[in-house]
Amino acid sequence: MSKRKILVTSALPYANGSIHLGHLVEYIQTDIWVRFQKMRGHTVHYVCADDTHGTPIMLRAEKEGITPEALIARVHAEHFGDFTGFHIQFDNYYSTHSPETRHFSEDIYGKLKIAGLIGIRGIEQLYDPIKNMFLPDRFVKGECPKCGAKDQYGDSCEVCGAAYAPTELKNPYSAVSGAKPISKSSEHYFFSLSDVRCADFLRQWACEGDHLQPEAANKMREWVGEAGENKLSDWDISRDAPYFGFEIPGAPGKYFYVWLDAPIGYMGSFKNLCERENIVFDEFWQPQSQSSTELYHFIGKDILYFHALFWPAMLKNAGYRTPTKIFAHGFLTVNGEKMSKSRGTFITAESYLKQGLNPEWLRYYYAAKLNSTLEDIDLNLDDFIARVNSDLIGKFINIASRCAGFITKRFDGRLAAGEQYQALQAMVDEHFLGWRPDAIEQAFEEREFSAAIRQIMKFADEANEMIHHLAPWEIARNPERTDDLHRACSLGIQLFYLLARYLKPILPGTVQQIEIFLNCESLTWPQLRADQPVSSLLLPAGHAINAYQHLMMRIDTKQIDALIAANTQSLSAVPPQSPVRHAEKQQHAIAPVAETISIDDFSKIDLRVAKIVNAEHVPGAEKLLKLTLDIGNEQRTVFAGIKSAYDPEQLKGRLTVMVANLAPRQMKFGLSEGMVLAAGGGNPGELFILSPDSGAQPGMRVK
Ligand code: MSP
Ligand code: ZN
Repeated sequence: MSKRKILVTSALPYANGSIHLGHLVEYIQTDIWVRFQKMRGHTVHYVCADDTHGTPIMLRAEKEGITPEALIARVHAEHFGDFTGFHIQFDNYYSTHSPETRHFSEDIYGKLKIAGLIGIRGIEQLYDPIKNMFLPDRFVKGECPKCGAKDQYGDSCEVCGAAYAPTELKNPYSAVSGAKPISKSSEHYFFSLSDVRCADFLRQWACEGDHLQPEAANKMREWVGEAGENKLSDWDISRDAPYFGFEIPGAPGKYFYVWLDAPIGYMGSFKNLCERENIVFDEFWQPQSQSSTELYHFIGKDILYFHALFWPAMLKNAGYRTPTKIFAHGFLTVNGEKMSKSRGTFITAESYLKQGLNPEWLRYYYAAKLNSTLEDIDLNLDDFIARVNSDLIGKFINIASRCAGFITKRFDGRLAAGEQYQALQAMVDEHFLGWRPDAIEQAFEEREFSAAIRQIMKFADEANEMIHHLAPWEIARNPERTDDLHRACSLGIQLFYLLARYLKPILPGTVQQIEIFLNCESLTWPQLRADQPVSSLLLPAGHAINAYQHLMMRIDTKQIDALIAANTQSLSAVPPQSPVRHAEKQQHAIAPVAETISIDDFSKIDLRVAKIVNAEHVPGAEKLLKLTLDIGNEQRTVFAGIKSAYDPEQLKGRLTVMVANLAPRQMKFGLSEGMVLAAGGGNPGELFILSPDSGAQPGMRVK
């Protein structure tokens, strides 16, 4: 197989909002595809960035009393933390507010200008005379010209659905200052999309070429029209000061419109990666690279217009290569409806992680729903729970958890060898005769993830059937059947090992733990020639595995209820999760700061991020809760004096910080193996356990 060179992007999220479960459809989809290609040994560069320019970001920063630069720096850290928390592994996560993106914006603009594709003309626009700025459509409000509904945006009415120009609104006002806007004219710069060079190129590239999904190509045909039909209009690429963005060279007070530099941000982010890792930028962007390297953009269907029309036309006419393919996906609905803040289904990535939900549950569920079309995908919360619990835990994880204990306790951690191994191989080859991973591979390649999962789960079903049939838990009671037991359990572990590979692009974190458990090398995509038996993929005879550690929990309905509650609450000013809200308002005495210690003293304390996997009342204890803490490679029992402030149910699944190297202490109710960190403790109920920011994983050291 020849090694492919692939550059992949996901759309750049706006730097003025939080990442939510809708966004994650795209980043998870792309990440799975990228991980799959990397596992196959191809060279893949996956880049993204924050989309940082434009009026909304400028105004938001102003409202917060900070500079736009400070705002985008803060949001960058938040976004990056959210993505990391969901195992989205960019090779570079950058910003459009960068020297690289500025360079390419100026470069492309300059080349389009030389090509005679930049025009200037005056346009009339609504202007805020108090704020002294032109108002984007979304910042003008007024009464709908069709139905008269009040407080509608300048582009469309949310009541009757009518679309119109902001100048058509009745009694318009500026959403920034409240002033009545005036009409004012100003010179704008345009990219001449209506030029026959653009239209002809797009007709061939977008409508006839194989660069778009069939549905998307149909849309393009509608937008571009037949030859001779002049359907495309020029694109307004400038905005007047005040604006947060790049000033247009030779045009003081004029800035590139955010959508001009946003896709160029793909190049900027990649250029930044190239400088760092000595990759040849031109190998991916020069026209002659079209045949040797691949360029893919994953996007949502709402931004198809920008990616399938403006972007290729800009690239082509500025002398760069055009994308190999654009992969658009549909929109996320939750329980069949648009995400809604009032229903608590507008769920942020951060809240999901903060509530201690496993990011891989969502990765799995999205994968099980995703295909290569533009269809919307629905996160049905009941189905989410059922599916994850039955597929991931019931069919996959259980194979290991049922078989591993025997291997550790009865066979010194070694899988079957010799005759037992041969018998096991024969069983696998007989049962999976003719089975080939090619179909799974092809499904991943084509972004038919739901089809890939159907096949993987079919394999899991068969594996379970085999084990069920052998019933190791029954043979175990018969001392004369030790060999049978060894073979049956080894078979289970071997099949689990086989399965884990195919789930690795989807569950990278769990599979990494599985690699440790199985004591094997980092799993790659298997190459299985037609003449090779399936058993050639198994672990070697007598292979030693490690003791089984808990790999994944089931989802509890209560966790989902808490997630919805947290996202509903966040609408009001009440911060979610705080156990005793009134306490926050109470005065409390500040204790003096303790004696100075050295850094060495501090570093003796081994603080770890811990996941509270269980929390329960201790019969007879007045103040204590019994916590089970997962710190990555082991679980600890800790008795914490937090009963007055926390309901155990509230704690289950969330992350906190523990002192991991505190000497264990025998208490009346049992051995306490550490301590969780909490603030307060003065007044009853006034206690706050610490949580790490989203993205932290159990076992990480806190320094
Ligand atoms: N900044 C632009 C993209 C510039 S790309 C050069 C933008 N940002 S966004 O934050 O609004 O969206 C980022 C990506 O997430 C887009 O591809 C968008 O389609 C996707 N999604 C945002 N909400 C979504 C859903 N509810 N469902 C699925 N995808 C969603 O657009
Ligand atoms: Zn209306």
